[in-house]
Amino acid sequence: MAQILGGLTTSHVPMIGRTIAANKQQEVSFKPFFDAFEPAHRWLEDNKPDIAIVIYNDHGLNFFLDNMPTFAIGAAHEYRNADEGWGEPEPRSFAGNADFSWHLIKSLVADEFDVSSCQEMKFDHAGITALDLIWPGHGPVPVATIPVVVNAVQPPLPTPLRCYKLGQAIGRAIRSYPEDLKVLVIGSGGLSHELGQMGKINQSFDALCMDKIVNDPEALTRYTNAEIVELAGSQGLELMTWVVMRGAVSGPVEVRASNYHAPISHTGGAMMLMTPREEAAVQAASLA
Ligand code: DHB
Ligand code: FE
Repeated sequence: MAQILGGLTTSHVPMIGRTIAANKQQEVSFKPFFDAFEPAHRWLEDNKPDIAIVIYNDHGLNFFLDNMPTFAIGAAHEYRNADEGWGEPEPRSFAGNADFSWHLIKSLVADEFDVSSCQEMKFDHAGITALDLIWPGHGPVPVATIPVVVNAVQPPLPTPLRCYKLGQAIGRAIRSYPEDLKVLVIGSGGLSHELGQMGKINQSFDALCMDKIVNDPEALTRYTNAEIVELAGSQGLELMTWVVMRGAVSGPVEVRASNYHAPISHTGGAMMLMTPREEAAVQAASLA
């Protein structure tokens, strides 16, 4: 059976891709953000996932205001990037696993999540930024990627509770896949930001989100979308990608890496790596 190795979250901004392309990761304003991924790189080296489920919000590359699925899942053998208006991108290819995607889609629909299935899908900066931070070097990403897109743009928006429940259903689907594959669940988005309003970064709410996503994710499901916009800005709704991840990586987790560096462009730049806590460790903690 497939197994969930852990969850990794990151903020995304196109400037991260441009910084990587210009090889400026060690410049003073970026260094702490990029360096924070080093423990994750070592963990990935040791644990070697086969599949990365990449949960992110599409920014108009696949879906625009006239055609906006609430949840959409890629079901292709391969995904490519494309021009989002930030300049002609270097053409790149990311392997998929269509069999795993269809299992995920069928399981979710059976579980009452009527997701859109996309036999063609392009990765936008939200997906690619995460993959480049997690597997730096611009070589082929050494896992099969499964894009899971959450509408964080156009009302009506899925509620935080609905996103958490989607994540729980994704977790059930992963665990019921018959092949022994190791799965990393990635959430790419947030934290607080509203494009055009630099001042919208809310560091104390970002800190609260980073605490709750580990220790009490259900607390995040009690916010309304409007409250999140008020606290974290309109693009702060990208936090939903983290909430979906945490629904999938359920139960107590151990934090393997965590960092916050603001601003990264317009946003609070965060990364976290968490793994399900071993049953034995959970028992030891409750006895202590
Ligand atoms: C920025 C942030 C985003 O989430 C995004 O999708 C695009 C740009 C920014 O901060 O520049
Ligand atoms: Fe974004």
